[in-house]
Amino acid sequence: MSKNLEILKGIDFDNLNDEGLKKLLVDKFSKNINKAIIPGESYIPVSGKVIDEEDILWGIESMMDAWLTAGRFSVKLERELARYFGSRFSLLVNSGSSANLLAFYALTSPKLLDRAIKPGDEIITVAAGFPTTINPMIQFGCIPVFVDVDIPTYNIKVDNIERAITPKTKAIMIAHALGNPFNLNVVMGIAKKYNLWVVEDDCDSLGATYNCKKTGTFGDLATLSFYPAHHITMGEGGAVLVNNASLKKITESFRDWGRDCWCAPGKDNTCGERYCQKLGDLPEGYDHKYSYSHIGFNLKVSDMQAAVGLSQLTKADHFVARRKENHAILSEIFKEFEEHFILPKATENSEPSWFGFMLTIRKGSPIDRNKFVEYLEQNKIGTRLFFGGNLLRQPAYYNLNHRKIDDLENTNIIMNKSFWLGVWPGLSKVHYDYIANTVRNYIRSL
Ligand SMILES: Cc1ncc(COP(=O)(O)O)c(C=O)c1O
Repeated sequence: MSKNLEILKGIDFDNLNDEGLKKLLVDKFSKNINKAIIPGESYIPVSGKVIDEEDILWGIESMMDAWLTAGRFSVKLERELARYFGSRFSLLVNSGSSANLLAFYALTSPKLLDRAIKPGDEIITVAAGFPTTINPMIQFGCIPVFVDVDIPTYNIKVDNIERAITPKTKAIMIAHALGNPFNLNVVMGIAKKYNLWVVEDDCDSLGATYNCKKTGTFGDLATLSFYPAHHITMGEGGAVLVNNASLKKITESFRDWGRDCWCAPGKDNTCGERYCQKLGDLPEGYDHKYSYSHIGFNLKVSDMQAAVGLSQLTKADHFVARRKENHAILSEIFKEFEEHFILPKATENSEPSWFGFMLTIRKGSPIDRNKFVEYLEQNKIGTRLFFGGNLLRQPAYYNLNHRKIDDLENTNIIMNKSFWLGVWPGLSKVHYDYIANTVRNYIRSL
């Protein structure tokens, strides 16, 4: 028997109230929960989760239901997430990548008639960032059209978007870079002018606002990730936000095997017409639960994930605020080194919800990005590149059928000269003092 099980078996549940159970969890399991990070001694991770005894308790409570698949916690989290964003609906999925897959495929539904995206259509996006923002369009057989990004917001150069549009353009699908919103004013204006769909990848920007409105609520669909590096976590997980009721039904169908019926797991005949419908060529009265209107997936979550997510969501505003504080500390520190680094800048009219603190080494600085990152890592300071850098230069994309606008100059600069430092809520002033000294020592040695 493992040590955790031994502890659980020893608990006298009959004589324990809520507070007692929480205290016991903190006493017995806190060493597993948030390990102390001692600058210089332990590694300072670039990202991480902050969980507490409430999160563990909610996970345990959902386990005790023995329901396992999506259930009462999932229903509640979908409602609470929609409320948090001010969106009409949210649909939980098992990762941010699944959310992107689902959001994109929803737009390919034949139910959308002439607005449905078809293989060979063009989708405007960027090559700087995470691969699964662009993979769904490629997997479906669309042609990504890459527009360069701006430095230091790291978001799409909005002035170049209209040059990318042809009669085949159907959508714009891009991420808010490292928590910094892209220019939604211009993107939404162009989408309206040319009748394009917009998918906001909000995986790195939960809680950011543009013109005082939350990102994730501007586009037709938006996606979230709840992987431990993200603003809130449930281990693996994600969600799709959607306002339009028909699009919500389509998205749900693609998520749940492609079926036409919308019964929750374990429920039958919610519509009351299970055996009295006629769908397409199916025989009259064919079981609606097993009638398929899309070639779908199964991307649902388990209720244990949802329970942890529900508990984490109650702390989202605090986590977002802590990330902002940490970003501000790093901004202050790096003013001293501005001769060498371009510092990150919030997009105009936005309040970012930072995922990381991005730096680009200035032209003319003797600092070599790779050597510098290696130096920081050797000194136990975690760093990250901007995910895939220029995705077009990754082996997986060598033979990609695509178009690009200009030569993606900044995307290439990011690939060679940029990296980011952590701002996650597990870090604070002591860690940043250590980072500042370590950077100072390096710069003095140049
Ligand atoms: C912008 C962006 N989109 C999507 C994802 C994918 O999320 P997940 O890891 O939950 O699949 C990530 C991952 O970090 C991301 O940064």
